[in-house]
Amino acid sequence: MSSKDIKRVIKALEEYRTNLLRELDALENVIECSLKNYDFMIDFAIQKGFKRVVDIGCAFGQQAELCKNRIKYIGINEDELNFYSPKPKHVTYSAEKYPYYIPFDLYKNDIAISNLAIGWNCYVDEKETEKQFEAISNDFKACLLYLTVERGNLLNKYFKHIEEFKKEQNRKLLPTAFYYCYN
Ligand SMILES: C[S@@+](CC[C@H](N)C(=O)[O-])C[C@H]1O[C@@H](n2cnc3c(N)ncnc32)[C@H](O)[C@@H]1O
Repeated sequence: MSSKDIKRVIKALEEYRTNLLRELDALENVIECSLKNYDFMIDFAIQKGFKRVVDIGCAFGQQAELCKNRIKYIGINEDELNFYSPKPKHVTYSAEKYPYYIPFDLYKNDIAISNLAIGWNCYVDEKETEKQFEAISNDFKACLLYLTVERGNLLNKYFKHIEEFKKEQNRKLLPTAFYYCYN
């Protein structure tokens, strides 16, 4: 191989390594932090009688494992990732940045869930957060969002019914809670 070809191979393998590390890092976060929130959200959706959850900002979607033999799972993420694919397959994914065009009744019987993505300070400011809440109120039957209380206070413009759960005064974060909302 010429030195130019070797450079190309090294570059491709480095990119492959970066993606693997990113996936591993996300998995570590899911196991150490996010899984307990998802466990609450998915149990909640099942108890409320939903047949499918739509997880906005799912990253690699490893949390779909919690849904196996219990409820269908759709993961939405803005990047095209190497999405987690458990067997038997009860999951589908969509690489989209929410909000995007969703046909009127596609998710009208479903609950949107989101952990550290929708309304989260590092991704959206207050104005964008409100756009996301408005879109969710149109696209889904209900939602269960993990938010800072500051952002949770913006929900009442878009939803008639809002229930707050597990309000917590975290040491590192602003106060947070889960918000179950519907119209
Ligand atoms: C901090 S990670 C959290 C991942 C997962 N929800 C968890 O709790 O482990 C946030 C993910 O949401 C995605 N995300 C943020 N805003 C989004 C949006 N508007 N639409 C789709 N994906 C979004 C990011 O790309 C990232 O993968």
